[in-house]
Amino acid sequence: MDTLKDQVAIVTGAGQGIGFAIGEHFARLGAHVVVAEIQADKAQTAAKHFSSIAAEAMPYPMDVGDTAQIDGLVEAVVSRFGRIDILVNNAGVSEKASFFDMTPESWDWLQRVNQRGVFFCLQAVARQMVAQIPQAVIDAGQADHSYGKIINLSSIAGRRGRADVIHYSVSKSSVITITQGAAMALAPYNINVNAICPSVLPTPMWDELDRTQSEAHRMERGEWFKKRIERIPLKRAGTVQEVAAMCAFLCSPAGDYITGQTYNLDGGSELN
Ligand SMILES: NC(=O)c1ccc[n+]([C@@H]2O[C@H](COP(=O)([O-])OP(=O)(O)OC[C@H]3O[C@@H](n4cnc5c(N)ncnc54)[C@H](O)[C@@H]3O)[C@@H](O)[C@H]2O)c1
Repeated sequence: MDTLKDQVAIVTGAGQGIGFAIGEHFARLGAHVVVAEIQADKAQTAAKHFSSIAAEAMPYPMDVGDTAQIDGLVEAVVSRFGRIDILVNNAGVSEKASFFDMTPESWDWLQRVNQRGVFFCLQAVARQMVAQIPQAVIDAGQADHSYGKIINLSSIAGRRGRADVIHYSVSKSSVITITQGAAMALAPYNINVNAICPSVLPTPMWDELDRTQSEAHRMERGEWFKKRIERIPLKRAGTVQEVAAMCAFLCSPAGDYITGQTYNLDGGSELN
């Protein structure tokens, strides 16, 4: 159970929800987890917890929408651990906004974190991963194993447009095309880039959506979440541990030949 032993993994938004579960799972597999998280207190608490499991973890309070802070993150991680092996671009924001109520401010806020943040974290970390590859391997133009794993959290909302979250859908479909483009750009370096599309998982993000939507539709708290789950073919919500397990698989040697792919983790909600 030490498939990620001594690997250095940055997980953005690892202070809670899916990111926390990924960090915890990676720590159990032996990785040094860097918690790149906008909520400073949660970054500290999560890193302390991950360090107590196995390898030393590192909190890094930051905003993924700020490119100067992204550069600072890469510098700090390399100075502490000497390298970066894994990036999980998990940090994200969400809200409902009907077609006619959408504002430019809401649009820009969401793209800044979910789209711009994902691309520029990926670019900065990939530069470092490429710099870690021995020159002889670059000259040969191919390698027999991966030199870095990058996973981006998209959503089934990125698979097709939805009336009440157009800005979120746009940001998450961008994550899929960013994944494909980056996978092709980084294939010559044997760096793998893939994406995961969850559907509904109980996390603080979904708690908040359930609160606002239950209020808006005059439902009991939890009712909106329940109705959403009824539409899933497997008739249950996913779990954060299931996302973490998929990330671990993609980051293990078993995932070395997989790149540019987007996996639905959605109980059969989408079939593409
Ligand atoms: N929960 C779901 O059902 C679901 C479904 C599909 C996709 N997703 C995606 O999975 C990812 C994680 O979702 P979650 O449900 O755990 O959300 P969450 O809100 O519970 O956690 C997100 C984390 O990201 C952090 N964060 C937000 N903005 C940030 C920023 N600018 N810089 C750094 N950190 C920032 C938050 O502080 C928080 O700790 C998101 O990208 C989300 O869109 C979630």
